[in-house]
Amino acid sequence: MNLTVRVWRGAASGEFQPFEVPRHASQTVLDVVTHIQRALDPTLAYRYACRVGMCGSCAMTVNGVARWTCRTHVDKVAADGALEIGPLRNLPVIRDLVTDMSGFFDKWAKARGRFEGSKTRDDDFAKVEPQSPQRQQVDAAIECIGCGVCYASCDVVGWNPDYLGPAALNRAWTLENDVRDASNPERLRAIAGDAGCHACHTHVSCSERCPKHIAPTAGIAGLKRAVARAALRGEL
Ligand code: SF4
Ligand code: SF4
Ligand code: FES
Repeated sequence: MNLTVRVWRGAASGEFQPFEVPRHASQTVLDVVTHIQRALDPTLAYRYACRVGMCGSCAMTVNGVARWTCRTHVDKVAADGALEIGPLRNLPVIRDLVTDMSGFFDKWAKARGRFEGSKTRDDDFAKVEPQSPQRQQVDAAIECIGCGVCYASCDVVGWNPDYLGPAALNRAWTLENDVRDASNPERLRAIAGDAGCHACHTHVSCSERCPKHIAPTAGIAGLKRAVARAALRGEL
């Protein structure tokens, strides 16, 4: 049995090109793309690295929905034996299935998505209780692999290209809850503006689509509360 696959070719403008790909048991969408590139058209551009759901580089739009392709089985998504595979939305397309992620990661920097400690090597190790409420919040949000699925699924990013987006805000939320981090309220100021957490319309597409079962919507709501508390304290 063959699978009919339409694959985006080009950049911002282009068209879907049809291919016929043999079906296999346990075949993933990434297997399909790899077969096309290796056996049918070596000029097809796409990106992956780990193939096991760790690196976050293989995300694409599959039948209209952003997904990590290395962990998405064809059986679960092929409608009537057909697949349409395109690049992620909300990101510039470099070529075919490859998007430019630099704007996505620039927003992590804008959200101060890096740990900023205050201790020196002479200080003792920080002790963080595993059961503390803050550590639990971090645990729920820390496994992000930077795949961009949430970002591509967010309508607000589509309307407002300056919006920091769910992944950068989720990262800011983990750091907001990191008791060792010393950069509050600077981080809260960075994520409080018009392009920050208040731009989220709570559409929840990010949380529904995240392959790591993270809920950026919950973290963004937490950031909104943290910003309000900091504002009441006169810290912003
Ligand atoms: S909940 Fe907010 S960040 Fe997530 S998809 Fe909706 S608008 Fe975007
Ligand atoms: S929050 Fe989820 S969907 Fe968004 S980049 Fe991280 S792992 Fe991917
Ligand atoms: S190839 Fe690494 S997450 Fe899919």
